[in-house]
Amino acid sequence: MLQVSDLHSGYGKLQILNGVSLRANPGRITVVVGPNGSGKSTLLKSIAGIATIFQGKVELDGVLLSKRSATDIARSGIAYLPQTENIFTNLTVKENFRMAGYTVKEDDYPSRVKAALELFPQLSRYLDTKSANLSGGERQMVAMAMALMRKPTVVMFDEPTANLAPKVATQVLETIASITKTMDLTTILVEQNAKRALEIGTDAFLLVSGKTVFSGTCRELLEHKELGRLYLGLQVA
Ligand SMILES: Nc1ncnc2c1ncn2[C@@H]1O[C@H](COP(=O)(O)OP(=O)(O)O)[C@@H](O)[C@H]1O
Ligand SMILES: [Mg+2]
Repeated sequence: MLQVSDLHSGYGKLQILNGVSLRANPGRITVVVGPNGSGKSTLLKSIAGIATIFQGKVELDGVLLSKRSATDIARSGIAYLPQTENIFTNLTVKENFRMAGYTVKEDDYPSRVKAALELFPQLSRYLDTKSANLSGGERQMVAMAMALMRKPTVVMFDEPTANLAPKVATQVLETIASITKTMDLTTILVEQNAKRALEIGTDAFLLVSGKTVFSGTCRELLEHKELGRLYLGLQVA
């Protein structure tokens, strides 16, 4: 279980999060929503170890992560897919896989690539294609394959459907739902399209101005009259 407690964090001396608590469990999708600038990406960066933590802590199965380096945090099984620039567009798909697999033992590498291609068969024919030439959805698949190649226990997605066509966005979300189940992943999903994310997720957190203003189930948040209307643009009947 990933546990974030009373987190105060930001960049340099600038504080953005003012007391965020969150808990995420294996086999479940924990959805983080909130208005633009509310600190969703900062939360993921804080967990990944690339923001400044002033107060509070991040723990994975009771082990304190918040004092470790980003490299150590990644090694402990936390994968983070940033909102942008999550693949090397000047490299081919195969080369991207190589980059992601640098921490994987040489002997294990071929089976990890094979598993990635079974998950995203569409990528097979693009192995030697420069990633810049792929569609947005295909690039997102490469990024997901790269994250999964290291067999993480926690995967954090920052707006994985941004700029994707609705159909492709649905596919990406369905893949996230299915790998969460089959790989028993602890998935944290930050989404701008709150409705769609809350429909596939299990647990929900709403951030506003760097604070957690709601925690509960996705269903509860979807059906919450004021919060949905005020912050998420949801029309609740
Ligand atoms: N690298 C950074 N340095 C300074 N301030 C930043 C940085 N990244 C984001 N911020 C600021 O932190 C606040 C929260 O941003 P962010 O976490 O990206 O929000 P969200 O992902 O919810 O839209 C914003 O005011 C943003 O300008
Ligand atoms: Mg963001």
